[in-house]
Amino acid sequence: MLFIVLLLVAIGDVVSISSPITPFTTYRYSTELEKGIADLWWTVDNGAKDITFELHMKTTGWVALGISPGGGMEGADIGVGWVDTEGKVHFQDRHAFDFVKPVIDNTTENWLALRGRESNGWTAIQFRRLLDTCDPMDVEIKSGTNVIIYAYGLTDPVGDINYHQNRRGSRMIPLQSYANPPTENKFTGLDYFEFRLNNYAVPSNDTTYHCKVYKAPARYSRKRHAIAHKTMIDPNNVDLVHHLVLYECDQTVKFDDNNLPDGACDDYYREFSHCLSNTATVWAVGGEEIVEFPTEAGYPVGGDFGIKYYVIEMHYNNPKLIPNRRDNTGIRFYIGKELRQYDLGYLAFGTSSNALALTIPPKVDQFTVDSFCPSEFSKNFPESGITVVSALLHAHLQGRSLGTKLIRNNTAVEYLFNAERYDFNYQFDNRLSEPIKLYPGDEFATRCVYNTMNKNEVTLGGQRTTDEMCSQIFTYYPRVKDLYGCFSMNHPDAWQAIRNRVSNNFNNTEMLDWIKNIEWTPTVAAQWQEFYNDASRMVIYSAVNNTKSEILAALPKYKDLPIKSCQTESI
Ligand SMILES: *[C@@H]1O[C@H](CO)[C@@H](O)[C@H](O)[C@H]1NC(C)=O
Ligand SMILES: *[C@@H]1O[C@H](CO)[C@@H](O)[C@H](O)[C@H]1NC(C)=O
Ligand SMILES: *[C@@H]1O[C@H](CO)[C@@H](O)[C@H](O)[C@H]1NC(C)=O
Ligand SMILES: *[C@@H]1O[C@H](CO)[C@@H](O)[C@H](O)[C@H]1NC(C)=O
Ligand SMILES: *[C@@H]1O[C@H](CO)[C@@H](O)[C@H](O)[C@H]1NC(C)=O
Repeated sequence: MLFIVLLLVAIGDVVSISSPITPFTTYRYSTELEKGIADLWWTVDNGAKDITFELHMKTTGWVALGISPGGGMEGADIGVGWVDTEGKVHFQDRHAFDFVKPVIDNTTENWLALRGRESNGWTAIQFRRLLDTCDPMDVEIKSGTNVIIYAYGLTDPVGDINYHQNRRGSRMIPLQSYANPPTENKFTGLDYFEFRLNNYAVPSNDTTYHCKVYKAPARYSRKRHAIAHKTMIDPNNVDLVHHLVLYECDQTVKFDDNNLPDGACDDYYREFSHCLSNTATVWAVGGEEIVEFPTEAGYPVGGDFGIKYYVIEMHYNNPKLIPNRRDNTGIRFYIGKELRQYDLGYLAFGTSSNALALTIPPKVDQFTVDSFCPSEFSKNFPESGITVVSALLHAHLQGRSLGTKLIRNNTAVEYLFNAERYDFNYQFDNRLSEPIKLYPGDEFATRCVYNTMNKNEVTLGGQRTTDEMCSQIFTYYPRVKDLYGCFSMNHPDAWQAIRNRVSNNFNNTEMLDWIKNIEWTPTVAAQWQEFYNDASRMVIYSAVNNTKSEILAALPKYKDLPIKSCQTESI
């Protein structure tokens, strides 16, 4: 009995796992790929640039794990393994050219089996793969969002593998920056507050963006720390809730407490202009419900903490136009018993969300928008530095890859975070594999890359989903007072110049009309990229009561990071 109790306590704070087999070693990350069917453990070795996986599946036949470039089987790189009746482990590197049986990779073997065994009707195999194998028949395991596919057969292959039928699945997961969420038991008994919808009538429309303002809880006269939060998707609407974003409104914002805004986001984006640039957290389909903060820091609530309002943006996807659904989705913050050492804050880099910052031509495979945040921004960082722990990257539907480099003494030191692959539909709280310290004088180079092949019209910066954004938000501690973001846009003079205007009277309305009337051809789009590469920039340091700006005649040059030795594909 005592043994059972101890066991329950021990598994109490790890992710639920159903495999009866104990893993061969300990791993940094683990997740249940499919309840009662498939569990995955993995550790990324940044030095060796490889990943060791351990896959457990409820079968004594073959098991397979793949990395997919686009979501399905097409182009996927797949490791297939089994344990034979003698206990010998077999493993194959395969490649799927299409939604057909994957062929054996006849270039190089890049999935290497380490160990394997079968027990209680389950198969466990430990294997290793380089992040980037430089093999055209493999798929690089990129930073940012990865698509994992898995399948299994009921028997060991005789000759070739048999079809898995519906014994398959997929999962979006940031393999190199997984936050490894604990289960909720860890927080039971703690005080909490919630921002939750109240029987919101979800329209029978294909897409709905619903926004609602919430007031910070008033009951904490003394400052407390939230140590984790949980996204609570209404169980009746798991098929409709697509994503939820929580924004911090800056301290100057005032709302009528008796009539807090609540309605279609597009009707409110002006009122929310001091809210929507400070993202606090995001949950999207496939993301983890629980996010736990690092033990040394907490998110402040109550006392003299300045943030008084939050906005929740709900995105519902209702293609079947289901009527009469009521939604009570929300987010809960667990309050720690003790105050932690540091307050958490959020820093944002990127561009402003307007047309002067983002004007993206249609039918472009890759349009790059660079921005730069000079040392003026970081001058009030404490001498002892701040510590960045996680990254939330945010663009809208056209965003493909996003990243921010840390520049110190005109030299790129490392990426704060780089998502070589970004997918609007799967936005994660990416935990940095090692926290990164930032010091006064540090500078930041941010890049957002867009694809507009599906568009016939220009895409402009803005808050609506069909507009674009370039916002990269980092969670850090200790929170620095009066510091939010550093956003840039092309300088009005650069806009006047591209319009061949000599007058200094910049007229935003005229400029927008001019942009909207451009006839986009591939040549014009290519010239537009040059304009973006060379334009002078206006950088805005957004801080409450203290917005400052600086002009950069051009994007500063810096010594870049070494180029990766092999590149299997372009983005
Ligand atoms: C490898 O297999 C592919 C597809 O099955 C084939 O087109 C290619 O010629 C093979 N290459 C070698 C080196 O055998
Ligand atoms: C639902 O769609 C209709 C037609 O497109 C639109 O008029 C209406 O405003 C939408 N309702 C909501 C709540 O978004
Ligand atoms: C900055 O770089 C220059 C040239 O490489 C070097 O001489 C200088 O010591 C560096 N300064 C700091 C603070 O690292
Ligand atoms: C900007 O241009 C528009 C359209 O030409 C005009 O109506 C408006 O008065 C101008 N605004 C300013 C501030 O000059
Ligand atoms: C902003 O400035 C006003 C006036 O100077 C002051 O009353 C207010 O407290 C300031 N707000 C913050 C958040 O610093």
